[in-house]
Amino acid sequence: MSTLLRACQADITTLSVDAIVNAANTSLLGGGGVDGAIHRAAGPQLLAECRPLNGCCTGEAKLTAGHELPARHVIHTVGPVWRDGHHDEPAQLASCYRKSLQLAQRHGLASIAFPAISTGAYRFPADLAARIAMDTVRATLPTCPAISEVIFCCFSHEDLQRYEALL
Ligand code: APR
Repeated sequence: MSTLLRACQADITTLSVDAIVNAANTSLLGGGGVDGAIHRAAGPQLLAECRPLNGCCTGEAKLTAGHELPARHVIHTVGPVWRDGHHDEPAQLASCYRKSLQLAQRHGLASIAFPAISTGAYRFPADLAARIAMDTVRATLPTCPAISEVIFCCFSHEDLQRYEALL
């Protein structure tokens, strides 16, 4: 089955998909940016579900319900903090996309939306991050037949143009 890949400019908390991906931190206890927006929109039960998960390592992904979000689930992943590109940051970012897709596949989720992981507070260069995201998603999808739609949910028009150029 061919998977639909598309980019949009939106607040990811408004998307009615099987899973939205959260750019979390290792505590999984919330934060700013998209993490803060998702927790605000999902309500306090999201944090209550995250607490016993015992955090999340960089490059890994964990699944929760969507609670008050229109999305059925949230896949929490922790991107790398950009240092200089020589501390495994590209591979760790790729792992976020790969593990998130594999987790969605394991739970039979058909539609998943990603924010631009690590490109905000974690300062990962946006062009390189977009290329890693696109290349990793394209390389992983053949092993994830349950997934029929992947959305790159951009917060800025600049990011939208970046992803559309790669599509
Ligand atoms: N919808 C979609 N994208 C969003 C939204 C939103 N509501 N809010 C922010 N973004 C975008 C940012 O513009 C950026 O492109 O998400 C991308 C990731 O930025 P951050 O949220 O800062 O995430 P990241 O760079 O991965 O840093 C993670 O920040 O919020 C804390 O707890 C989080 O410690 C963790 C760190």
